[in-house]
Amino acid sequence: MTQRAYNFNAGPAALPLDVLKQAQEQFVDFNGAGMSIMEMSHRSAQYEQVHEETASLMRELFGIPDNYHVLFLQGGASTQFAMLPMNLLRPGRPGAYIMTGSWADKALKEAKLIGETAIAASTEGDRFTRMPDSSEIRIPEHAAYVHLTSNETIEGTQYAVYPDTGSVPLVADMSSDILSRPVDVSQFGVIYAGAQKISALRASPSSLFATIWRRRAQKACRRCCGTARMRKTARSTIRRRRSRSIWSIWC
Ligand SMILES: Cc1ncc(COP(=O)(O)O)c(C=O)c1O
Repeated sequence: MTQRAYNFNAGPAALPLDVLKQAQEQFVDFNGAGMSIMEMSHRSAQYEQVHEETASLMRELFGIPDNYHVLFLQGGASTQFAMLPMNLLRPGRPGAYIMTGSWADKALKEAKLIGETAIAASTEGDRFTRMPDSSEIRIPEHAAYVHLTSNETIEGTQYAVYPDTGSVPLVADMSSDILSRPVDVSQFGVIYAGAQKISALRASPSSLFATIWRRRAQKACRRCCGTARMRKTARSTIRRRRSRSIWSIWC
């Protein structure tokens, strides 16, 4: 290739050529195994090493404390719009959403299909040209969680400071800015991000998402949502019962 094109898209971004070349090489023969990583079992020792290394790099880069799980699951961030309320909503305990634009709206619409929701703040009156100030946020009593979108990819707005939600777990969709700046992870109950946009780093192909769950938040998960149940998912992922998206995770 003589000339590389630059992609200034709001989502997927350019990757260093060396990284692409390494991926190309290892796609055919993964570290001398004589096979592609695509041909390997997700339970193999070789893949297990890749998985552990990816999770530990994520922990190191993002400063994730030990009392948080790091899960790489199938389905992209949009799946999490539903999984999250499936896991955390209970009767009389609404999910409180901070409305800041297109992605917050999608997250709320999905949660409404699952259970009770409330609007903790909205900047619609300003045509979503800004994020709300902490003083504008009203958290309903007994809220199960407060959900925010850290960077509204379409409107082009981003939180400079995250709100303090006290004892109510703060949940963040960080799909378009995770790993682009330091974050105090301990402020959040759950952080999730669709991988293709894992910031300008473009950490992986789409249809994978990373979630970072505080173990206590995960304990609060309901019992009734089958395989979408985070506690169960965490356990089965750790025990390798579910097929993992090995290509995306390796990327
Ligand atoms: C902030 C935000 N949330 C969610 C999504 C949806 O992610 P996915 O395509 O992984 O479902 C996007 C995609 O652009 C996004 O920018």
